[in-house]
Amino acid sequence: MKNENFGLFEPLFPGKDGNSTSRRAFLKAIALGAAVAAVPSVFSSSAVAAQAEGGNVLIIYFSHSGNTRRLAGYIHERTGGRMVELKRVRPYPEDYDAVVDEAKKEQEADARPEISITLSDLDQVDTVFIGYPNWWGTLPMPFFTLLERYPLAGKTVIPFCTHEGSRFGRSERDLRRLCPQARLLKGFEVRGSRVSGAEKAVDEWLTGLGLTAAR
Ligand SMILES: Cc1cc2nc3c(=O)[nH]c(=O)nc-3n(C[C@H](O)[C@H](O)[C@H](O)COP(=O)(O)O)c2cc1C
Repeated sequence: MKNENFGLFEPLFPGKDGNSTSRRAFLKAIALGAAVAAVPSVFSSSAVAAQAEGGNVLIIYFSHSGNTRRLAGYIHERTGGRMVELKRVRPYPEDYDAVVDEAKKEQEADARPEISITLSDLDQVDTVFIGYPNWWGTLPMPFFTLLERYPLAGKTVIPFCTHEGSRFGRSERDLRRLCPQARLLKGFEVRGSRVSGAEKAVDEWLTGLGLTAAR
């Protein structure tokens, strides 16, 4: 990942950095909306557990240079469930300056780019984690396409975001607008350059959603 343009964002969007009990307790606490400490137990990451218990968690993430993908992986290790990568059908340029430029134009045009995924079996899902890099102050436009198509009414929606100084920017506000009938919980944000090493903070965040750490 290149860093040379980070300075570009700092003046515009002043920038924070950013345990789970068993997977069952996690899912239960989320499903009930319980802000209570669950009894710690041994964390299991077995595929069997994921199938049996993680069916109602969906993690959707977008990542251009890998930071958000890595963070999504940490979360998935703890929650299980389904993980889906959102992409634009026409890939963004790999070159950093080019993607910065194109993303800006796409946002200014309020575009709804074609996306690579459809969501099935949403009625089986209670909790949707939405992961993204902060792009020009908010979610990349493919999420606007996705969430206008699937506004996640009645779901618990939990954002996580990587950035280089702007934290969530205005993305939480945009999420609230895109998913007006979802229950938005406290998200997690971290600088992209600090995702490696953020595992403890991820644990603490999940704990703060009503869970205790035990990995
Ligand atoms: C098109 C584009 C726009 C960006 N806009 C911002 C921004 O407004 N604020 C910010 O703090 N970081 C911004 N960044 C930095 C990314 O949010 C950060 O590097 C992120 O960790 C990248 O995640 P990824 O590796 O999952 O793609 C931008 C990066 C790109 C490529």
